[in-house]
Formats: sequence, structure tokens, C-alpha cells
Amino acid sequence: MNATATGKEAPYYRGSSLILGSLLDLERDPAGFMQMLTNQYSEIVRLRMFRMNIYLCIHPDAISHVLHDNHMNYDKQTFDYKMLGDRLLGKGLLTNDGPAWLKQRRLAQPAFHQKRIQKYSEIMNECTAELIEKWSRQDGATLDLSEEMANLTLRIVGRTLFSLDMTGQSGEIGDAFSKANHLMTRRIFATSPPFVNFMPLDWKLRAAARRLRAVVGQIIELRKGKEDQFDDLLSMLMGARDDDGNPMDTEQLKDEVLTLLLAGHETTANALTWSFHLLARNPGEQSRLAEECRAVLGQSVADFQTVPKLQRARMVMEESMRIYPPAWSIGRRCMKEDEIMGYRIEAGSLMFLAQLVTHRHPAFWENPMEFRPERFREGKKNSHGYAYFPFGGGPRLCIGADFAMMESIIILSALVSRFEFESVQDEVSMELLITLRPAGGMPMKIHKRPD
Ligand code: HEM
Repeated sequence: MNATATGKEAPYYRGSSLILGSLLDLERDPAGFMQMLTNQYSEIVRLRMFRMNIYLCIHPDAISHVLHDNHMNYDKQTFDYKMLGDRLLGKGLLTNDGPAWLKQRRLAQPAFHQKRIQKYSEIMNECTAELIEKWSRQDGATLDLSEEMANLTLRIVGRTLFSLDMTGQSGEIGDAFSKANHLMTRRIFATSPPFVNFMPLDWKLRAAARRLRAVVGQIIELRKGKEDQFDDLLSMLMGARDDDGNPMDTEQLKDEVLTLLLAGHETTANALTWSFHLLARNPGEQSRLAEECRAVLGQSVADFQTVPKLQRARMVMEESMRIYPPAWSIGRRCMKEDEIMGYRIEAGSLMFLAQLVTHRHPAFWENPMEFRPERFREGKKNSHGYAYFPFGGGPRLCIGADFAMMESIIILSALVSRFEFESVQDEVSMELLITLRPAGGMPMKIHKRPD
């Protein structure tokens, strides 16, 4: 139910620019800006970015209201989602809205049922074992963990959802997506023509999107006429028929495949990369994790039966996604006037939910910047439900959450059992793009552990 126009005004942060409001603050130093907001507010704060009225929901109750309790009043018609859709992902699951989204979600959902994920765990296991073999020949080398993890998770998503070995395309996809990720962020900030000429950005962005869509086009072409021979998500999407018996049109199919390919590998790769970073900075936690994983796994790589026994690996993944949430913010548009925690929200306002702020907020987490996997020990739930929402929530909860957890536990436990990770950088800074990446990658030394 929407409230009538009651409610007090939310506190306002005016930003450093009279005209642009907080836009420049966010563009110049996004991480510092987020930290400043974390230090000063704990419920809801109103910001202005040029002409946009934005409410940052920090309190878990406010987040729950938008994602879950009154989700029907909050759609994805936001500037950034529209940009992501128009320039890159089209009307795929992530960017679509309304009945069209629901239809697509129902179509894709069976590919993420528990039984399917159990099957995928065999592929996750095989791909991880292959990486271990490769790394075993690189003892003492410095590797970019960011790149290594992106290649691995792309390989897994290619094989599980599309029955394809994408090793050959990982360079092209990695490079084109990295460009798109940077350009998209710059393009989102380039909101007004007098300040930034966004035409060249658009051209480059469209070129990167064309490269990605070309790869996806090949994937679909390869499958045409062979749908019956495969039992995977791609065949499910290609075999789907609407009420009039028509298949999904090629552009829609490309949107779905591209969305799953990108959403299905980039975030998990970031979650793993940040976990290795935190473990390297906390050697005690790294040794404890290695010991526990070796005790469960011996020399093997986990499968769906052993994954539930790898408690500490799960705790490490959850804690690392708290400090470094791979999807660091979520946007929504308020459709009809509403009231959240007693504050008035005008129709058309942009709602900004930032995992990066709430996950690090001292009101909801004790010593938030300390890496303490113990926070996530089973039965020890944070009393504020939406203080933790790495996969979003409500009906738009990440469709790949279980897939991602299974995959990251298999990979993390196997790699930490066999290798020790050593930082080679004094400082690692965050890049707040569509996803949260380490700036300049994550070079790390890997050392084989004695058997
Ligand atoms: C650690 C890994 C991952 C993280 C942190 C993550 C995070 C998220 C978040 C926060 C959302 C919600 C966005 C919103 O509400 O606006 C989302 C949606 C989505 N994710 Fe993930 N994700 C991960 C892995 C995956 C994987 C492995 C897949 C697929 C194989 C996937 C596919 C999707 C799709 C298709 C959506 C849109 C769902 C919908 O709206 O129906 N994600 N993800």
C-alpha cells in the first residue's frame, strides 16, 4: 500500500556543486563519497545529481521496503538500468521489467533449480581441477587473480548453461566487457551535454557491445537446428514458444544469452578475487581456511555432497561479499508517492540501495572493516535482515545466487587447499563500475602448499 503525502522530509546532502549537486562528488571519488555517507547517515538521505532526485536507502528496513515489502511500487526504469539496457543488454532478465520480465524469469528459472545446480557442480569441479593443474606448473609466479577468476567463471558458465567451451573467446569477451564496464560508468556520469561530450563514449560503448553481441550471435548460430540434442538453458530458451506458438525472436534471445553470460561470470569472479585479497591480508584466516578445507577434501576437489561440509569456505565468501559486494549498488524508480520509515518519497524519485554502504555500516556491523568470517557462522544471523543483500532481494533476487555460492565454494576451497596467496601490492583500491572491481587487477604470488 502506498502512503498518502504524509511523512517528514528526509535529510538532504546538498553536494559540492550548486548545479550538479552530488554528481561530481560521486564521479571524482566514488568510494570516498560512499564512505562519507556511511559516516553521516544511517536511515535515508536525499541527494541530488543534476536534475535527479535520489534517495539513498541505508537502513535495512528501508531496503526491505523497496526490494520486498512494497516492491510493486519500484521498477527498474532508472537512468542506469535504462542505459545498461539500451547500450548493452537489451531486454534481458536483468534489465527487463513487468510482465515481459516475469515471463522470461519463469522460462529461465528451471535451469537454476537445485537438481540442475547439482549437475553443474560436476563441471565446476572439472574446470577447477584443470586450473589447479595449470597453476601447479606456475609455483611462485605472480598471476592476475582477477583475470584468472574471470576466465575460470566464464568457462564454467559457458559449459553449464550453453554446453560450450568458451576458452577461445574468453580474451575477446573479457576485453570487450572490461571496456563496456568502464565506458558505461563514464557514460552514466556524463548526464548532461554542457559538461561532457558523450558522443564518443557512446560510439565506443556501441562498438564494445557489438563485439559482445557478435560472440553471442555465434553461440546461437552454432545451436540452431540442434536444440533437441542439448539439455541446457540455451535449448530451453530456443525451444520456448509463446501462446501463438512463436519462438523468441533472435534479438531477445541474444539479450538473454548476453545477460546470463556476463551476469553469470563477472560478479562471481569478483567475489573470488576479493576473497583471495582478504585472505592474503589476513594470513591467520588463510591458514585456518586451508586447514579446514584440507581436512574435508584431502586431495580432491569439492562436489555438491562435500560443499555443505565446507562451512568456513562459505563463511569467507559471505564475509568477503559483505566488505566487497561484487554488485555494489541497486537502483529503482519510485512509481507512486510513498513513505519509508516515516520519510516522504515523491513519485519519480530514484532509489539508490548501496550494499557498499549498508554492508559497512557501524550501526549494523561491529567493526565493519574487520575481516571476520565468524560473523557468518551458521545460526549467527545478523538481526537486521537486509543489512546484508549481496544478491538483492524480493522477486528480483539474483537468479544465480545458489549457482554462484556452489561455484565459489568449490573454487575457493580447492585453490586455498593447494596454494598460498601472497599480496604483491601495498594498496589495492576499488573501482566502482557496474560491478566492484579491484583497480588495475589483482596481481598475487601463488605458492604451492606441501602435500
Ligand atoms: C557472487 C555472484 C553474484 C552476485 C553478487 C550477484 C548479484 C546480483 C544482484 C544484486 C542482482 C539483483 C539486481 C537488482 O535487483 O537490480 C542480480 C540479478 C541477477 N543475476 Fe546475479 N549475482 C551473482 C551471480 C550470478 C550468476 C552466477 C548468474 C547466472 C548464472 C546471475 C544472473 C543474474 C540475473 C539473470 C539477474 C537478474 C534476475 C532478475 O531480475 O530476474 N548472477 N545478481
